[in-house]
Amino acid sequence: MKARTSIPGCLAVMAAAALTAAAPLPAFAQQPAASQLALTPPMGWNSWNKFGCDVSEKLIRETADAMVRTGMRDAGYTYVNIDDCWHGQRDSLGFIHPDAKRFPSGIKSLANYVHARGLKLGIYSDAGSKTCGGKPGSRGYERQDALMYAKWGVDYLKYDWCNTEELSAHGAYLTMHDAIAGTGRPMVLSICEWGTNKPWEWGASVGQLWRTTGDIGASFAADIDRGNWKQLSVLSIIDLQPPLRQYAGPGHWNDPDMLEVGNGLTPSEDRAHFSMWSMLAAPLIAGNDVRSMPSAVASVLTNRDVIAVNQDSLGVEAFRYSATDSVEVWFKPLAHGDWAMAILNRANAPRRATFDWQGESVSDSLSGRSAGFTTTRYAVRDLWSKRDLGTTEHPLSAEVPAHDVVMVRLRKL
Ligand code: GLA
Repeated sequence: MKARTSIPGCLAVMAAAALTAAAPLPAFAQQPAASQLALTPPMGWNSWNKFGCDVSEKLIRETADAMVRTGMRDAGYTYVNIDDCWHGQRDSLGFIHPDAKRFPSGIKSLANYVHARGLKLGIYSDAGSKTCGGKPGSRGYERQDALMYAKWGVDYLKYDWCNTEELSAHGAYLTMHDAIAGTGRPMVLSICEWGTNKPWEWGASVGQLWRTTGDIGASFAADIDRGNWKQLSVLSIIDLQPPLRQYAGPGHWNDPDMLEVGNGLTPSEDRAHFSMWSMLAAPLIAGNDVRSMPSAVASVLTNRDVIAVNQDSLGVEAFRYSATDSVEVWFKPLAHGDWAMAILNRANAPRRATFDWQGESVSDSLSGRSAGFTTTRYAVRDLWSKRDLGTTEHPLSAEVPAHDVVMVRLRKL
């Protein structure tokens, strides 16, 4: 404060003018619009949900190969993300290096391997002094860490929020945003701050996606008690999303956490979880062992019709239209006048759902879209059974198994 007031008035004015007028923008402000990095929700895979701290270059290479072999890459999954615990130590200058036992060839060589398969590499750090797994965090080393990631050819950074003490969340994520931008290498910045400091209010100008909740668990309906914290069920997470849909859109997404498809849910639950994440325009980051997944799991993760709903260019999240007796109807406006609709059965027993389009009026003030079923006809296609179900002139009647969905696309005729 003292130094500021001691600057003579005219000098202060000149300095301010120099900053605002002809001075070239600093390098970090000249980067290609970061909002172009994720015009649709990011898709990929992450090690954490299945492997926790047990990461290695072998796992990442085999996973990249499996993503090609299983058709995941061709279905749109792009990022292969190493989560916590890849770290070794900082060197005498403060630069971070990977754990030499787990990553003996180094991250650069791993990035080359992943890139050679048409995929991109993601890495993980933390805004605090240590990661959640107790590894070195980026606090005080943001620029050095970003430089290393760029040098290695990293394309995506998930940035966590453990051990941050009194840090300002917005400020800390902005620091890493600027550090990344300063490297000149485009990297998706995934804000993993669990929704504690309302990242939806400031995240769009800082990163491409922000976690909206605490960690997901492989459970559909019941949260998992871990003593001093809980892993949230799929349904708990869904229930936290409706007030946030206004904040997401192309380039900036609400992130209700990574997928648990293939991690022990029933086939119905896998389908419902994947459908609802697609309806919510959530990032689709698989979290299972894709090297050995059964074909039933692969067919959920690679359902292109459902993925097309998630990746729709309009980028508007679904809204809950109705909820009766554990059966919810969700609608998502899509580009070119189409809609997606999901009937979610939260109950432990099957439910028959009937939806008489002619008596319903669906409109969305956020997107300004409405579906006038009496004036416009739509063709109805079931995205899981792949059957055409006629048009909206006739009611839809379907049996929805326990913890499952019926998901359809309405194509304007
Ligand atoms: C936090 C994050 C998880 C995972 C772990 C790693 O809990 O929310 O997604 O990255 O840290 O330690």
